[in-house]
Parts: sequence; structure tokens; C-alpha cells
Amino acid sequence: MDSILVRGNGALSGVIPIAGAKNACLTLMPATLLSDEPLTLTNAPRLSDIATMTQLLQSLGAEVASLNDGLVLAMSSHTISNLKADYDIVRKMRASILVLGPMLARFGHAIVSLPGGCAIGARPVDLHLKALEAMGAELDLRDGYVYAKAPGGRLKGAVVDFPFVSVGATENALMAATLAKGTTVLKNAAREPEIVDLARCLRKMGAHIDGEGTSTITIEGTDRLGGATHPVVTDRIELGTYMLVPAICGGEVECLGGTLELVGAFAERLDAAGVSVTQTERGLKVARKNGRVKAVNVMTEPFPGFPTDLQAQMMALLCTADGVSVLEEKIFENRFMHAPELMRMGAKIDVHGGTATVTGVDKLKGAPVMATDLRASVSLILAGLAAEGETVVSRVYHLDRGYERVVEKLRACGAHIERISA
Ligand code: EPZ
Repeated sequence: MDSILVRGNGALSGVIPIAGAKNACLTLMPATLLSDEPLTLTNAPRLSDIATMTQLLQSLGAEVASLNDGLVLAMSSHTISNLKADYDIVRKMRASILVLGPMLARFGHAIVSLPGGCAIGARPVDLHLKALEAMGAELDLRDGYVYAKAPGGRLKGAVVDFPFVSVGATENALMAATLAKGTTVLKNAAREPEIVDLARCLRKMGAHIDGEGTSTITIEGTDRLGGATHPVVTDRIELGTYMLVPAICGGEVECLGGTLELVGAFAERLDAAGVSVTQTERGLKVARKNGRVKAVNVMTEPFPGFPTDLQAQMMALLCTADGVSVLEEKIFENRFMHAPELMRMGAKIDVHGGTATVTGVDKLKGAPVMATDLRASVSLILAGLAAEGETVVSRVYHLDRGYERVVEKLRACGAHIERISA
């Protein structure tokens, strides 16, 4: 298993290109199952999760060609030969459940392995299933799989009122509704930019959708969808992660492709901590306003609130802030596993349930640490960039799921960072 070695090297400055969004691409790819015409995605990120989704779609009989060094995904579901998504692929990536809605909507039946939990929580899929049942699906859960069928071969429009916001359940229901007979209304729908991106792509394919980006999305089902070419929206989580580099180290970084609308609540917290964020015509320019950042409180919420996927990275910054910060993780039940690793670097963190209290220290100290999940891995790299001495982050396979070319991107800003193959 590879590791990443980081040596604190003072202020970092430069330009970082931001890739297409992993969490948009992982729902745009299953959308190919809705149509027998080609769906081509551009600005795709080069990540192991994308390779896993590619493998899953190919196992169903879809054609997925990765072109232009992975930036283009040319897909076709003209000949789907298998409607069973196997556990051995699904268990590698929970987003695999997103093939359920499209397969059921187009073919009238589907067998998909339940994804199981992951490090940050149990992460059930009950809201996905309830939404599809509301649309007429008959579901049978046995031997770890969902056996789904649409009576008469077609889902029907329905009002789906989500008890709480779920990104994945909104995406599954949105895709399924595009081919259902009649009108579907999704209430308390997720508002993430990745949902908006999916709706825009589905509309290009011929879907009739209104309200994406708000809590109520209305879909008029149609008999079939065509093909499209669609650019994957910029990754707001990668963007926020690299915005923290000058915040934690000093210096000035311009994140190409970044926009304030993608990171509104996050940029507001940075501003409160004493970090300036300026929109340029190329992206977002970030630098400290004056010296050490100040402690701020953070509470994670569904979009447009502070993203849970930036909580671990923000905690790394606040470990070096002047004062005491309180971070409340409201989305997942176990998303502070980076805290004990940061404490190995001298951070002062007190975790009680979903609340972490961070008392800032002047300087973190480099140490060997272990990545426990995707966002924790990059939180430790941020801490290592600002720490005195050397940090070695192990289990970086977590990192490869969501961050492409981290070493190159950070080296371009003057970081002392290298990948050590085991
Ligand atoms: C998506 O996960 C993202 N993944 C996550 O990013 C992100 O953290 C999350 O949304 C929240 O923004 C992808 O888009 C591939 P949810 P998802 O359904 O859809 C509970 C990353 O680091 N829940 O909005 O699984 C769930 O357990 C990843 O890139 C149910 O109880 O998240 C969680 O506590 C991590 N039943 C909360 O709702 C359900 O049926 C929000 O989950 C579904 C969810």
C-alpha cells in the first residue's frame, strides 16, 4: 500500500486546476442506462471510483470508453445484457446503488446488491427504496440483494416526500422518474450542485425536469430518452480542499474553475476565520487576510450549508487557528476518525458524539499517520503541509478515490510532497 510523504515547507503559492466532480460523475454515469443512445461525459475526473463505476456498468453490458487520458467517458447502454449488479463490485463503492433507479425505469426490473456500510457510517439506502416503491416498484430484499420490478414494466409518477435530505436517494428517484408514466414530485429533495448537474444532463437527453437546485423537483415522465454530451461540473469538494492550502500554510493559491456559488457556506467560514476568497475570471484566489487564522465554529448541513465532505479538511485548518473552534457533524454518525490522527501531530481535539472541540496550537508536528477514509486522508496531508518536520500518510488508496494528481498539484505550489510505493 502506497504512502505519501509531506514535509512542511512554509507558505505555498501557485495555480491549481480543479477537476470534474467525482460525486457528479458517479451519478451521471449510471444515467447512460436510461437510454439506448450514446451518452458522453467530458471534464471527467481521473479517479479510482470512476474506474469502479466503469467496471460496474461494463458488467451490465454497457460500453464505456475512457478517452483523452480519462477526461472523456464515451458510454452506450444500447445492449444491456445483465440486470444484476454484483456484490463484489458494489461493496467497493456505495454509489453503485445509483444503477438501481435507471435500470428499473428502463427495463422494468433490476437486481442490485445492497451496498453495506462504510467507515463513516451505516449509510442505509431505505430512502432510495421507499422512493422507488412510491413509484410503484415491488422490492424484495433477500441474500443481500434488492430484487426490484415495475408492474407492467413501467414505474408510475408519484409524490415522494423525503423525511430528510438524501443526495443519493434524490438522484436515484430523479433518474427513475424521467421514464415513469406521469408526473413525479420530489419534496425535500437534495439541492447539491451535483443534482443540478444531473438534471441538466437528463434534460439534454430529453427529460422534462423543473426545480432542480430547490427542495422540490418536478419530473414529467417520457417514453424514452436520447443521447447527449455533457461536461461534468467542477468538483466543489476538491476546490474547497485546495482553498485550504494557503489558509493553513500561508501564501496565495488560485483554484482554476472555482466559483463562489459552488462553495458559498464554506467560503463564508473561511472569511470569518480571516481568509480572503476572491472570484477571478479564471477561478477563486485564496490567501490569508493577516497572519494566523482565527477559530470559527462549523456545523455541517445539506447544501447550501457547510458540506460534510469538507469537515475533516476544515478541522485540520482549525487545529492551527488562534482560539477554540466547535465542529458539529450533523450528516454522518462517525466522521471524526481523522481527529485521533491529527492528535498524533499535536492537535488538541476533544470529541463527544457528533461534536469536536478544537483548541488551536501554534504549530503541528509531523508524524506517521493513517488515512481512514477519503476526506480524512486529505485532511492529514493538509496538516502535514503546515507541520514542522515530516508526515507520512499511509493507506493512500483512500485518497485515490477522490483526488487526482495530488502530488503534482501541490508540488506546483512549492510543496515538499512525494508518493512512496510500498
Ligand atoms: C453523497 O452520499 C456523497 N457521495 C457523499 O460524499 C456526501 O458526503 C453525501 O452525499 C452528503 O453530502 C456521492 O455523491 C457518491 P446522503 P450519499 O444520502 O448520497 C442517511 C465523499 O466523500 N441516509 O445524502 O450516500 C445517510 O446515512 C462522499 O465524496 C439514510 O439514512 O449521502 C447519511 O447519514 C462521502 N437512508 C445522510 O442520510 C438513505 O436511504 C445523508 O446521506 C440514504 C441516506
